[in-house]
This record gives sequence, C-alpha cells and structure tokens, in this order.
Amino acid sequence: MDNKKIPVILDGDPGHDDAIAWIIAAAQECFDIRAITTVAGNQTLDKVTYNARSIAALLDLDVEVAKGRELPLCSELITAPAFHGESGLDGADLPEPVKEESKLSAVEVMAKVLSESDEKVTIVATGPQTNVAALLLCHPELKDKIALIATMGGGLVNGNRTALAEFNIAVDPEAAYIVYHSGVPIQMSGLDVCEKAYITPEEWEKIRQMEGPVAEAVSKWLDFYFIHLKDLGWKGANMYDPCAVLSLAYPEIFTIREMNVDIDLSGEYTRGMTLADFRGFNKTNCKAVMDVDREKFVELIIKACEKYSKEVHHG
Ligand code: RIB
Ligand code: CA
Repeated sequence: MDNKKIPVILDGDPGHDDAIAWIIAAAQECFDIRAITTVAGNQTLDKVTYNARSIAALLDLDVEVAKGRELPLCSELITAPAFHGESGLDGADLPEPVKEESKLSAVEVMAKVLSESDEKVTIVATGPQTNVAALLLCHPELKDKIALIATMGGGLVNGNRTALAEFNIAVDPEAAYIVYHSGVPIQMSGLDVCEKAYITPEEWEKIRQMEGPVAEAVSKWLDFYFIHLKDLGWKGANMYDPCAVLSLAYPEIFTIREMNVDIDLSGEYTRGMTLADFRGFNKTNCKAVMDVDREKFVELIIKACEKYSKEVHHG
C-alpha cells in the first residue's frame, strides 16, 4: 500500500459528529492535516469556531483554525441546537483553546494551503459547503490543486432537515450546486450510508472505559448526541461526518457507486434535494457512498479513540 500521506483540509461545523470525525482523521497515519476551517451550520460561526479551536487543543493539533462563512450564500442560516446544544458541542468539558483563530479567512487559508502544496489536497467538508463554494468562486485557478472534495451531505432517497433535503445541503443549496457543478472530483457520504453507520451505546461503552481526555470527551459527546436521536427512534448515534473521513481512508469497507447528482434549488418541497440520476449514461460527477460494513466502521472509531488513550497511558 502506498504509505504516502493524504494532505487534507478539514472544513466543518463542529458539531458532535464533526468533532469525532476530526478525532478519527487526526488518529490516522494516512492523513496530513494542513488546516481546519469552520462554517456556520450546526451552530453559529463564532460557536463552531470556538469549538474547532477547543478540539485542536484537545488533540494537540498545531494547525491553523480559520473562520469561514457566517451565512449561507443565498439563504438565512438555520442551526441545529436540538442535536448539538447551545454551544454546538454540549455534553463534555473541553480544554480552553490554545491557538488564536487565524487572521486569515477560511477561503484565504484554503487558497494558501492549495497554492503552497507540492501535491493535490483533499478537502473533507462535513458542514454546509459554503466555504468550498466560496473557494471555487474566488480561486478557480486552484481547482486543479484539489484532489477530491470528500463530503458529508445529501441523500439519494430521503432527507433529514426536510423529507428530501439533508441538513448540510438544506442550509446552503446554492453552495452545493456550485460544488457539484465545479468538475472537481467529489466523494459524497450522504444519508444513504450515514444512517447505516451508527454506533450503539453498548459499543461506545468501550470508549468510556478508556483512559484520557479524548475518550472521555467522545463518550460524553455521544451520550448527549444520542438523546435527540433516540427520541427520533434511532437505535444508535448516526456517525454522519466520520463517514466522510473513513470512506476516504478505508474505501474497502464501504460500497461506493459512480453517480450523477444534481441539487434542486427551487422546488417548494424539493429545495436542497440531491437528485441522483441512476440511469448512468456515463455522465457522472461524484462517487456516492451507499453502504458500509458497520461493525468494521465502529471498530475504526474505537481504535482511533484507543490511540489517544494509549498516548495518555504511555505519556
Ligand atoms: O445531516 C447531518 C449533518 O448535519 C452532519 O454534518 C451534522 O454535523 C450536521 O452538520
Ligand atoms: Ca457537520
């Protein structure tokens, strides 16, 4: 296997599952995290940026954390306090942020990382795609430096914000439209796989038993995050954003299909829908992640937490 690291930019709206996705990413030997950028979504921009800086401190990640777009391109901001709480990351006490947020904007940091990198960079987008769209609009000359946009977003059968629109797309459909029409390679982890990629309370009990602040934070986040999901009838905590990371690192445990996906912008009931054309006709714009070996997926989440726990143990 090629042990060359994959340079990544983590763009998201932490958010419990973004936070866990970033912990998983930071635990993988295969990733070289070049920057973290934040976008309004689960909570307001200030809140998700503070959370991102706290997560970086928890992981002792010495990377720039840059604030992105405060509002969607063409809509009012909708947030998700029912799932993520008032802070956007309720349930666990986190270390105070160590690094100040970057003086540059998310788009400026993304552009800097892309232009300075000797190799193409993957953007892992686990929130509304506002920053990614802004980058593509402001810096079309850097499109070829993007290896892949690995997203959590959309759903080819149903939504979760509305019957047909998944939250990240529903927050900013125009941004998703720009991304899916950019010609940049996309790997889409939509609800099709994410609603099968859940972790049960019995499974995350193993994480709670581990030593150290990361395991403690993850288990407490999952306790909080599952409260609302359980009320909605889910049997576990859906690990939406970790799918975007793990389908990049371990594609072999997922089922992935080439697909052509478009974004509806104007339907009364369909705005924010990711419309898949299953007919094929050789016109495809993304790899749609459709299924996962759930047990292997959960094992990888537990293993990522174990890595930090062992670091605590061995000092
Ligand atoms: O629909 C799930 C997505 O919306 C996840 O990215 C979660 O963090 C929220 O942003
Ligand atoms: Ca998210």
